[in-house]
Amino acid sequence: MMNAYLSLVSLHVASAIFGLGPLGVLAVSASRSPAPADPERFARQLRIVRWGLLGMFLTGAALIAATHGALGKTGWMRFSFALFVLLGALHGLTSRSVGRALNQSPFAQPRSTAPMLWAMSILVLAITYLMEAKPW
Ligand code: HEM
Repeated sequence: MMNAYLSLVSLHVASAIFGLGPLGVLAVSASRSPAPADPERFARQLRIVRWGLLGMFLTGAALIAATHGALGKTGWMRFSFALFVLLGALHGLTSRSVGRALNQSPFAQPRSTAPMLWAMSILVLAITYLMEAKPW
């Protein structure tokens, strides 16, 4: 049972590395001017992050279920979850504005893209801290 739980935690962390890893790279490339040379690829990487977020949610929910909901009642978990919802909302807004810009030629990166991606990266750092430190 403990082994199964730890495998699930590993899956959760692997999902963060592979699924959310591109976020930092996207933030850096969005901050550079001119805009990314290959906006389709930029949009594709943004979709990887969407799968990453789904992976975090599913593995996280499975961890909570495995502890019969006990972890879901902790303060750090509730606060992290609120930050996670905000993260998902920012991701949705960014994907939408990048998707719209893709339909226009020439591609002009929306001004909000870089600050949104930095905000998402900071949210991931904050959630990582809360999940590791479990401060309350
Ligand atoms: C940006 C999203 C997230 C990141 C970066 C993240 C990261 C982490 C990390 C680094 C751990 C610590 C593993 C350890 O060392 O024990 C962890 C544990 C955990 N996470 Fe997440 N997580 C995220 C989203 C979520 C979500 C959405 C949920 C719930 C639906 C969740 C539920 C949990 C639970 C229950 C644990 C186990 C804590 C324990 O066993 O002590 N996580 N997470």
